[in-house]
Amino acid sequence: MNVDGRAYRSIWIDPNDDLVRVIDQTKLPFRFEIKTLDSASKTADAIHDMVVRGAPLIGATAACGLFLAAKTDPSDNFLNNAYQELLNSRPTAVNLRWALDRIVPDLLTTSEDKRKGLARTLAQQICDEDIKTNSAIGDHGLGLIRDIAIKNNLKIVNILTHCNAGWLATVDWGTALAPIFKAHDSAIKVHVWVDETRPRNQGASLTAWELNAHGVPHTVISDNAGGHLMQKGVVDLCIVGSDRTTRGGDVCNKIGTYLKALAAHDNQLPFYAALPSSTIDWTITDGVGQIPIEERAEEEVTHIWGLDEHGDTRKIRLVSQESHAANPAFDVTPRRLITGIITERGVVAAEESDLLKTFPEFIDTPTL
Ligand code: MRU
Repeated sequence: MNVDGRAYRSIWIDPNDDLVRVIDQTKLPFRFEIKTLDSASKTADAIHDMVVRGAPLIGATAACGLFLAAKTDPSDNFLNNAYQELLNSRPTAVNLRWALDRIVPDLLTTSEDKRKGLARTLAQQICDEDIKTNSAIGDHGLGLIRDIAIKNNLKIVNILTHCNAGWLATVDWGTALAPIFKAHDSAIKVHVWVDETRPRNQGASLTAWELNAHGVPHTVISDNAGGHLMQKGVVDLCIVGSDRTTRGGDVCNKIGTYLKALAAHDNQLPFYAALPSSTIDWTITDGVGQIPIEERAEEEVTHIWGLDEHGDTRKIRLVSQESHAANPAFDVTPRRLITGIITERGVVAAEESDLLKTFPEFIDTPTL
């Protein structure tokens, strides 16, 4: 996507020095800064500290981290340690494990002198594929938005989204936002209700920034406003992303997604999750019981970052010194609340049979 007229990906291996460069998402929307990653450990830190975030981008970043590891030291021992350090950087998005498992077995069965080159090729492949996959999700979601506009005779389609599942959360295009970008580009009038997404405000700081840069009309709302807007008839559909979806179609996504799905269900509104197949954990069937939910620092809830009246970024405390906070970062929306899953191969019912019909290569994946 373009930033000030220049095309960017959220991550790339710079051909000039073979280092990894990312857009530093902790600085947006106020500053656009590029950060250089030069080792697997720094890559794991960047994932943990959310310099990069969003399930597909976490996977792509881990892949690039393995390339940096193979550059530093291609031995089995070093690569295995890098694998473990990257895997431990965040627990919920399954794309992380998916990317690492796609690369490490191939590296370990290749001679040491060829590992750096192979790791670079495979990391680049994951990044390039991610763009194609998300573009396909965008095409399928575009069809859906067009159908809803025609069926309901809408002049403007009002779409609610939660967190940031835009191009910054992937290598490019995004998942939930890809259909929205494509609808806007094909002259379907869309307006997006952007949940601010406390505590880290990915909606307010990243989704709104992306939509603004692309010229998509949008309005930021507090997380509590969605149900009210649905009751008032100004939401036509919801599209969210996912960090891990079970083979049965339970969708784990940013905390607060479940409440939006409940409100959408109560108002008979379509609620879609847009996700690549790399986000489906084919080994599990029970989202609430089996998906590890990341607990992040309580400071993310007790404090907030923003720009003060002098244009300086500042962190301020919201909660009294005596109170503690809990910060579960994700929740699970059971499949019964999901209208459909927008994948790179089409829109699929949130059911094991339909998901496996669409991705038959995973039928034999053993479940835990
Ligand atoms: O904690 P984050 O910002 O990494 O959470 C991101 C989300 O929950 C996204 O909705 C999800 O990763 C899908 S991104 C295409």
